[in-house]
Amino acid sequence: MRTIRVGPVDDIPERGRKVIVDKETEIGVFRIDGEFHAWHNLCPHQGGPVCQGRLYYKVIEPVAADGKVRAMAYDEATTHIVCPWHGYEYNVKTGKNHGHPALGLRRVQVQVQNGEVYVIV
Ligand code: FES
Repeated sequence: MRTIRVGPVDDIPERGRKVIVDKETEIGVFRIDGEFHAWHNLCPHQGGPVCQGRLYYKVIEPVAADGKVRAMAYDEATTHIVCPWHGYEYNVKTGKNHGHPALGLRRVQVQVQNGEVYVIV
C-alpha cells in the first residue's frame, strides 16, 4: 500500500472533485456534504473514466394523488455521478449503481490530515 497526496482540502470545493494520476492508478476524489469519497476511475460496466462524469442529484418522479407523474424532481440528499461513456449512474457516497446495486465503484481510502487530503492505494 502507498499513500498519495491529493492536495490541500480547499482545492476540492463542496460538490467538487479532483482526479489524480499516480503511476498507472487514476483516482477521483469527491467532496459531498463535507465528506471526502474516493473511487478508482474505472467504471465497472466497460472501464470508462467514471470519475470524470457529471454530478447530478438523483432524479425522482413524484407520483401525484391521481397516480400520474407530472414532472421530475431531484433528491438533493443523494448525488450521482454519471459515467461519460454509457450513462451508468453511481451514488458518489456508496459507489453503488442505482439500477444494479451489485454493480459498484471500487473505493479508495481517504485521509485528511493537517488540511491535506491523501488517498491510500
Ligand atoms: S463504461 Fe461506464 S457506463 Fe459503460
